[in-house]
Amino acid sequence: MAKIKCCNLSKIFNAGGDPFEAVSDLSFSVQTGELVSVVGRTGCGKSSTLHMILGLERPTSGSLTIDDKEPYTDFGYFRGRLAAVFQTDRLLPWRKTIDNVAYGLEILRVPEPDRRTRAQGWLERVGLGGFENAYPYQLSGGMRQRVGIARAFCVEPEVVLCDEAFGHLDQVTATQLRGDFLELVRETGKTSVFITHDIDEAIELGNRVLVLGKPARLLMDLTISEQMKRNLTARDEMKTRILNAIEANRPVD
Ligand SMILES: Nc1ncnc2c1ncn2[C@@H]1O[C@H](COP(=O)(O)OP(=O)(O)OP(=O)(O)O)[C@@H](O)[C@H]1O
Ligand SMILES: [Mg+2]
Repeated sequence: MAKIKCCNLSKIFNAGGDPFEAVSDLSFSVQTGELVSVVGRTGCGKSSTLHMILGLERPTSGSLTIDDKEPYTDFGYFRGRLAAVFQTDRLLPWRKTIDNVAYGLEILRVPEPDRRTRAQGWLERVGLGGFENAYPYQLSGGMRQRVGIARAFCVEPEVVLCDEAFGHLDQVTATQLRGDFLELVRETGKTSVFITHDIDEAIELGNRVLVLGKPARLLMDLTISEQMKRNLTARDEMKTRILNAIEANRPVD
């Protein structure tokens, strides 16, 4: 069953000067339980698309529904159903780690001590047991992203969105976090959209990879089998196909 449906989605920004089209006639769907990677060159409209899925932006035209409801109008329905891990951690600097993780539960009016117990459990799941009283400035970038992951999963959402969450971390930390994120998504059976500009990361994580042109529109919709992930030659061929598609769509500068 399609959980997320995007149909001829467009987003035009009017920031001062001329109208700017960031998303152009984009159509795709995500089935319940799928982990779909979205890859495309920088500035192609990936975050704009994610913001529309999260209900933070309204499409200029076309439709976007989750469970046949619009995230940018049906706020009540989506409370607690959607969660995101962002490129920058977006933690509240004046809140301790545990209170950052529990933030979504507070909004959902989950009472204490349940709220604290759940937040503590998720902190431990992401390897941050013992850091509950630390403030964000006392944590490394990788640890802060772990708090972001705990915060997202803590509300037990149906859909988890991830926007280049590991892109600015060193390779070793990024690989660890990517593995942990994948394990959590699989274990909890979440529907997930994972945005990245790293093609290897997209293939590694997704059971599908959507390749976007610039402005965002669908260039390729590729199914990635587990068998293919383990076959280095097949992975390299897939990576080359994706690179070629993005390169062929090079916008005129
Ligand atoms: N609120 C906004 N107002 C005006 N223009 C915007 C706004 N948000 C995004 N844009 C423009 O839309 C285009 C796409 O931006 P977006 O952040 O969606 O790209 P992206 O694919 O996420 O890029 P990156 O990989 O660098 O994160 C950019 O040219 C950006 O300047
Ligand atoms: Mg972005």
